Amino acid sequence: MRVGVLTAGGDCPGLNAVIRAVVRKGIVQYDDEIIGFRDGWAGVMEGRAVDLSIDKLRGYLPRGGTMLGTSRTNPFRFEDGPDRLLATLEEHRIDALIAIGGEGSLGCARDVAKLGVHVVGVPKTIDNDLWGTEYTFGFHTAVQIATDAIDRLHTTAESHDRVMVVEVMGRHVGWIAVYAGLAGGATAILIPERPFDLAEVAEHVKDRHARGRYASIVVVAEGARPKPGTLELEPDRHDEWGHVVLGGIANVVATDLEARTGFETRVTILGHTQRGGTPTAYDRVLSTRFGIAAIDAVHDGAFGQMVGLQAERMVRVPLDEVCGRLKTVDPDLFDDVVVPFLFA
Ligand code: F6P
Repeated sequence: MRVGVLTAGGDCPGLNAVIRAVVRKGIVQYDDEIIGFRDGWAGVMEGRAVDLSIDKLRGYLPRGGTMLGTSRTNPFRFEDGPDRLLATLEEHRIDALIAIGGEGSLGCARDVAKLGVHVVGVPKTIDNDLWGTEYTFGFHTAVQIATDAIDRLHTTAESHDRVMVVEVMGRHVGWIAVYAGLAGGATAILIPERPFDLAEVAEHVKDRHARGRYASIVVVAEGARPKPGTLELEPDRHDEWGHVVLGGIANVVATDLEARTGFETRVTILGHTQRGGTPTAYDRVLSTRFGIAAIDAVHDGAFGQMVGLQAERMVRVPLDEVCGRLKTVDPDLFDDVVVPFLFA
């Protein structure tokens, strides 16, 4: 078969490992030809293709980013987008397409599948917010990077008796904040699923300090928002694809907390460092499993589906079920594990 592969949306540690697995198993086991499309759906629309081989992928397993490039281009936003996409697939005689992406990109994959294209999706995002899989690749790496940063911030917090506010990614959900906050021993964890009240956070910080504790670390997900009427925020900014550009909520949180507590407060916004660099061993293994599962799905004719991880096993979930839904932080995890630790 001639199998196309593309990476779309934000970059993510493990993308190269997925491509490598698709190429290796596709060529060795199935005698496939694997064609990469550059820069996500833009490359399919614009006919920018490259032949992939086992040799071309050598050395890529531990490398972050994506050797194919990526973009947030949505072909359905162009009047002639779907036709151009179909023309490219025909020109390159593509039998099936593996789309590696997050929520938006897999939404495109679902719509492309509805055009009659044989598509298989692979779940990518450091945010870990995709429905149908317990983990997305990249999440574990992001958590490790954020945890390392929190560990380092502890020493400044202790030495200066400061409050440190750490902003992590998490557009719609607080998985990174919860995992890194728990692993790093945070004082408070603010996530999109639970609108926050800084008066409560400030009381908690003051109470800790009154009890002789110090070095308060507040972890806030970029998408966390205050309870209505408790805090004034700037209006949202949008990128060219209409996505809200997040980042900066930590500044608002820190200013307000400092005013309420009187403790010197500093901000660290981890931003894209969480998506950069080498994937952890866990993510390399997960990415490899996803790549293998995707090429197997192609050969089983399991189109219009996303591969996922459930109870440690590879599964297939219809893209229709995945899209338009979010995997939010488990309320039991937050209430039974996070909350008791925060208030200790
Ligand atoms: O979707 C993953 C993510 O990392 C979000 O957490 C973040 O809001 C977004 O990507 C930022 O992406 P970019 O700045 O590359 O558009």
